[in-house]
Amino acid sequence: MKFDTPAGTNPTDRMRVLGKPLDRYEALLKTTGTATYAYEWKDVAPGFAYGYVLGATISKGRILAIDTREAERAPGVVGVVTYRNAGKPGVGKFYVQKMLAAPEVDHYHQPVAVVVADTFEQARAAAALLRVDYARSDGRFDLDAQAATAPVPPQGEFGGPNEKAIGSFGQAFAAAPVKVDQRYVVPDQAHCMMEPHATIARWDGDRVTCWTSIQQMNWGTRDLGLILDIPKENVRLHSPFIGGGFGGKGTVQADLALAAIAARVVGRPVKLALQRPLMFNTTIHRPKTIQHIQLGAERDGRLTAILHDSVSGNLPGGRTEPCVTSTRGLYAGANRLTRTRLATLDLAEGNAMRAPGEAPGLMALEIAMDELAEKLGMDPVQLRIVNDTQVDPEEPSRPFSKRAFVQCLEEGAARFGWRSRKAEPGQVRDGEWLIGMGMAGAIRGGKIAKAGARARLGRDGRVTIETDMTDIGTGSYTVVQQTAAEVMGVAADRIVVKLGDSSFPETPGSGGQQGAPSVAAGTYAACMALRDAVAQRLGFNTAEVEFADGQVRAGNRTASLGDAAVGGEIVVEDTITFEKLAEQFNQQTFAAHFAEVAVNAYTGETRVRRVLSVCAAGRIINPKTARSQVIGGIVMGIGAALTEEMAVDKRFGFFVNHDLAGYEVPVHADVPHLDAIFLDEVDPTISPVKAKGVGELGLTGVAPAIANAIYNATGIRVRDYPLTLDKYLDRLPDIV
Ligand code: MOS
Repeated sequence: MKFDTPAGTNPTDRMRVLGKPLDRYEALLKTTGTATYAYEWKDVAPGFAYGYVLGATISKGRILAIDTREAERAPGVVGVVTYRNAGKPGVGKFYVQKMLAAPEVDHYHQPVAVVVADTFEQARAAAALLRVDYARSDGRFDLDAQAATAPVPPQGEFGGPNEKAIGSFGQAFAAAPVKVDQRYVVPDQAHCMMEPHATIARWDGDRVTCWTSIQQMNWGTRDLGLILDIPKENVRLHSPFIGGGFGGKGTVQADLALAAIAARVVGRPVKLALQRPLMFNTTIHRPKTIQHIQLGAERDGRLTAILHDSVSGNLPGGRTEPCVTSTRGLYAGANRLTRTRLATLDLAEGNAMRAPGEAPGLMALEIAMDELAEKLGMDPVQLRIVNDTQVDPEEPSRPFSKRAFVQCLEEGAARFGWRSRKAEPGQVRDGEWLIGMGMAGAIRGGKIAKAGARARLGRDGRVTIETDMTDIGTGSYTVVQQTAAEVMGVAADRIVVKLGDSSFPETPGSGGQQGAPSVAAGTYAACMALRDAVAQRLGFNTAEVEFADGQVRAGNRTASLGDAAVGGEIVVEDTITFEKLAEQFNQQTFAAHFAEVAVNAYTGETRVRRVLSVCAAGRIINPKTARSQVIGGIVMGIGAALTEEMAVDKRFGFFVNHDLAGYEVPVHADVPHLDAIFLDEVDPTISPVKAKGVGELGLTGVAPAIANAIYNATGIRVRDYPLTLDKYLDRLPDIV
């Protein structure tokens, strides 16, 4: 199916199953502990052995020698895999990191060896017997030292070109009567998904099958093929359940690459998980950014000049963090200059983490807007309303397909009780607590991509949908189930959903919050094809056939859906592709986040008291799973605002706090009452299902809303995340 004109009325508009807060398709499996995660598969790889990864203890240099003799003699050891017997592993397309030090060491904890043994304990014990001698060389670990001179890389990435100028920023900024000119820092952050990266790999001749935890199947087969130097057709991946990813399992990480490599070397299936302390320096992370923002405005609040310059660092060949993406679309303003610059660092690879670019970019921009509002003596909500635009501010001939940003702001302000906020900071007390309110706006791409699905109709009237889509805890199973049920006119319990198998029709997988809209559209296409096949099989006129209540009707003829398959299962497959509409319309999702915090005037302890997010993201397929996405995003935003930072040891070059004790994500006690609501919206330009994703929208803008609330509570402006109390303790107002 080709989607190239906005959708008219279609079966998804019935909204009998779509739009309902169905429980998760796989809820019973997950709540009873019987959903099979990567490390838990039984009987798929008889005779498997355990792999244990040893990470480099230097950050830059090379391996001089590895003495494996003692480890090889240790009980149960099957083999020791190093660059000497691993072949030369290739590099995938999406990540630049090398999965094995060979013998150059590019970053700390880069895998040096995999010890394979009959039991996990034997593998771990033998790994301690390896002797690795290194020659250490100097590395670059300090982004601050390179920030001034880091160049703009020529190649543009996800966020568009790395540098873009519209109008004349310099002149307009110089002439602006009201200005903000500040620097903001967002530190390196880790995904910290609950399930560690894990894989079971089994070879059958020249073909490898892996049970793993990966978000994008198509990238996975491609990249593992490149790493192993085999055709991607010889790679089969299974990933039906994933314990979180947040971008950290986008494609092949060290677990998958090394399990497959080790299994090939030792001639036995290998099961391997990355130890939590290895994950922080071995896999990817969100890289630190130093962001310079200059805003110039008229006295009525209208922006005339916007500059956003962001610098991040990466391994050679790595990508920039596209922090300026949101700035290119969120507010009107005639003169604009945006650019991302890139330094070379010898730390683990920086790459996609939930709303790459947009989440950290708004952490800067939305504090700057708060600062501008204060200088203007204007309400921060009003400032954003004044600068709304219904067309792409950098390409005025291109309207937003839907942009209910102002409605998000107004609805949020009304529901949150924003009117009671005191504009002057430090005015509200509750005993020894300083109380403040803050808000921020958010924009996040409403993307969609080519997606396929297969639909099978059985004699029992059940419809089975198969796609290579993954569910990383987001609700993909349920989204597919609801879409299929709606289009086929059956109850949700008549739908069987199979995901996470690379042999199924291809989708973009889980990433860029395009998973749900894409797979729903692919399911729609396959089910529309199934409807045609059913009508034909029944000899019904396809033009007048109706599917409802489990029945198929045309004229005065009626059959049950299962009747069509009496002569044998009907199997159809289709792929939906998207053509021009994304060029014609700027397709985005929008939100307004409101936060209330309490800061202890004596200790600086900060508690988030409540958060409300109002979102506009097209049709909401399942308000329960969508709400969970946004609530989860807010929790991640609380972490980004208050605690999360991978601390860099600038002498030895590594992330020091590489476990869940030292890297602090919010725990239950840190999370107050959260509320997420969705505006009633459909976007017919995005797909026949008219739905967009919310998984990344829920995070973007949350942290700056909290930072602005802390300012409102205390009068102390911190521009350096996370806002830990040491950054304002000595400046807290005297409340005696
Ligand atoms: Mo994402 S960071 O596109 O999984």
